[in-house]
Amino acid sequence: MTAVGFLAPEGFEAELRHELARAEVTVTTEYGRLLLAKGPALHPAWAQNIWYDPVELPAESIKKAARRLKEIQRNWALLPTTGHHRRAALIAEQLPHVSAKPLVFPAQPPRAPLGGWTLIAPERMLAAPTTASLFPHGEVTFIEDRIGPPSRAYLKLWEALTVLGVYPGAGERCLDLGAAPGGWSWVLHELGAEVISVDKAPLAESLQGLPRLTYQRDSAFGLRPQHIGPVDWLFSDVICYPSKLLELVRRWMEAGTVRNFLCTIKFQGETDFDTQDAFAAIPGSRLMHLHHNKHELTWIKLESER
Ligand SMILES: C[S@@+](CC[C@H](N)C(=O)[O-])C[C@H]1O[C@@H](n2cnc3c(N)ncnc32)[C@H](O)[C@@H]1O
Repeated sequence: MTAVGFLAPEGFEAELRHELARAEVTVTTEYGRLLLAKGPALHPAWAQNIWYDPVELPAESIKKAARRLKEIQRNWALLPTTGHHRRAALIAEQLPHVSAKPLVFPAQPPRAPLGGWTLIAPERMLAAPTTASLFPHGEVTFIEDRIGPPSRAYLKLWEALTVLGVYPGAGERCLDLGAAPGGWSWVLHELGAEVISVDKAPLAESLQGLPRLTYQRDSAFGLRPQHIGPVDWLFSDVICYPSKLLELVRRWMEAGTVRNFLCTIKFQGETDFDTQDAFAAIPGSRLMHLHHNKHELTWIKLESER
């Protein structure tokens, strides 16, 4: 069993702890929202990043600490955890610069692997030479568009597509459920796709009259796949109980008319771990907590990953 560090998104440490306990992974130490465990390198949905093989190293001086890290590899992201911030910042200044500039969408994600480190005591650091995400702490940030999209929900879709490296484009048919006021529909239309936006509420005025967008005032749960026909993508950002979304997804999967799915599972009150597990068990799919997700997870199933 090797050591592994799981980084919880801010405010969701309890979710990560619970998910690890369900997977029978024992947390041995916690440094802020970084949970250390011995165990298989599973990828919990509530981990925003994973530190592989973290080790404790001496940090007897700023120079020596930086040299030790540089000897292991080049690119490091400092995770502020348990204080010692000034000293940690001084060590970080001695390390090669790693760009963490907000991306301009659509963008290529960085390619260089990234290590993670933190100062756990004034003269002791914890360092993992590789982490699961190419973004510091799994945080994908963008230069925001404050004019085009009618809501900030577009950032979730920007992030999901950037992480996947897949962009629905010209000639692709996208069904956007729970589309209002229209952030996701705006993203998809901007990418050149044909969009069918469905919501019980109206879209923002700015989206009305877009050439490749059709709005249908309807409940997402009343729609029947045969009435819509084949689609390349089914998106859902509908506010509903997770179990209701699961029923909807199963219905559309059974119909066999959808190539790719990208859905937000929104939790109300307690996290519904049973439904989370049911989503995670759908073959060829993945479940993740995006940096722009709140108390919700993003479930994705791509035809190319079957
Ligand atoms: C978080 S908002 C979606 C934001 C949207 N993705 C965007 O980018 O602007 C959730 C939406 O779900 C819609 N909704 C709730 N129940 C619905 C249902 N049964 N059918 C369709 N839409 C529903 C709400 O009207 C609301 O517009």
